[in-house]
Amino acid sequence: MLPYQTLLRFDRQLPIPLAQQLSAALMGLIKQGLVPAGTKLPGTRTLAGLLHVHRETVACAFEELAAQGWLTVQPARAAVVSRHLPEVKAQPLVPLPVGIAAQAGFTFERGNPVPVSTPAPALTLDEGSPDGRLAPLAALARNYRRASQHLATPVARLGYGDPNGTPRLRQQLARYLRATRGVPAEPEHIFTTRGSIMGLHLLAQLVLAPGDAVVVAERSYRAAEDIFQQAGARLHRVGLDSQGLVVDEVATLCQRQRVRLLYLTPHHHFPTTVTLSAARRMQLLALAEAHDFIIVEDDYDFDYHYDGSPILPLASADRRGRVLYLGSLSKALAPAIRLGYIVAPPDVIAALAPLRRLVDRQGDVLLEEAVAELLAEGEFTRHLKRARRHYHQRRNLACQVLRAEVAEWFTFTVPAGGLAIWGQFQPMVDLPQLAAHCRQLGLGMSDGTRYNVEGVGDGSVRLGFASLTPEEWTRSISLLKQALQKLYAG
Ligand SMILES: Cc1ncc(COP(=O)(O)O)c(C=O)c1O
Repeated sequence: MLPYQTLLRFDRQLPIPLAQQLSAALMGLIKQGLVPAGTKLPGTRTLAGLLHVHRETVACAFEELAAQGWLTVQPARAAVVSRHLPEVKAQPLVPLPVGIAAQAGFTFERGNPVPVSTPAPALTLDEGSPDGRLAPLAALARNYRRASQHLATPVARLGYGDPNGTPRLRQQLARYLRATRGVPAEPEHIFTTRGSIMGLHLLAQLVLAPGDAVVVAERSYRAAEDIFQQAGARLHRVGLDSQGLVVDEVATLCQRQRVRLLYLTPHHHFPTTVTLSAARRMQLLALAEAHDFIIVEDDYDFDYHYDGSPILPLASADRRGRVLYLGSLSKALAPAIRLGYIVAPPDVIAALAPLRRLVDRQGDVLLEEAVAELLAEGEFTRHLKRARRHYHQRRNLACQVLRAEVAEWFTFTVPAGGLAIWGQFQPMVDLPQLAAHCRQLGLGMSDGTRYNVEGVGDGSVRLGFASLTPEEWTRSISLLKQALQKLYAG
């Protein structure tokens, strides 16, 4: 008899019933050819004794294997390994581990590993997140419940729907975009996504071919760059100054070579927070027309502008179908509420659905309906008003505390909007070292490497002020100061 007690191992710590573990292990032995077709297995009592489990456990495992066709079980007879199984050459007597293999049994291209974010300390200077505690969750939850009651009726079952997004949400978004930023959108110009990342991915799939030239700023949004490169594009970087992207450099580049697409965040450039001047916007639109390139305008934080009126998006002035406009509710509500949208001419919108369906049949209908209601009832606007007031105050206080506490090491310009301050540490500050030391003190912050230009860091970093209360910000900057004093004082 085979040494079943050695070959059939259990892990009693696993939340998997023993009978299920036993049937999987027995199946493994059969598949390995160690228990060939026609083999009589020990009786349930014997096997249970060998394995120190209840007899019922063995009986259950046999029953399961019989149901799946691996065994033939007859009353009062020994269970027999089915004679109809394909013949397997016996493999070495190595007991198979329980559970999922530690690594794939095949090779594959791993790509660039995305660093798995380690849990951030409770106090973290993020890179510009909103304060989720201010999000209108009670209203959203109420609308979600209402939507589920409505959609579960026989008329509107929770079935497959429109991959472009629910008509009601597209209608509400169109209304909102027209009213707040002059983007003349109608529902047929809107395609909802699970955030702007997905929008960028779909657009890249749609309009880029390997080798296409994509223009980005010398410092830009890394996630967007990764998406363009994944689509095979070659990135060309142009300079940035106090008025935003240096459009003359784009013009020069266009003289030298064909450009397919230009990506920018003109409202508050990511990461530097600079606003692209109105004159350069006009120049850019004219260039796109003259040189036949696409502008992808990522307007991720339009809702937050504190000094003066915001300049309207490029999309509000585009009458030639050059601008693909991306929006997101990640800053307006919270990053965990995955909703974004693309605004584009109808032929582009029509081409997006087949691409989306390759990875995602449609959006989350209940969430879309709940947010549509938030927009329709005015709660979205009221929330933004409240949030803008908080963030305006937080920006002012953040700048004041930075000036008072760490001016010796850190300089910055006051951002006119957005949720973060962009600034530079003095050259003696080693940002990765500082970030590591802050973490030891219980303060999370970026080590700045994602803002490096051509791999070289210059002490620049984004300090998000919106997600922290005034008290939390003051405590954070005091910890930052403590770290700076410890590492670089004198
Ligand atoms: C430049 C930029 N675009 C878009 C987003 C939002 O992405 P998503 O809508 O996928 O959350 C962010 C978030 O930080 C961002 O920094």
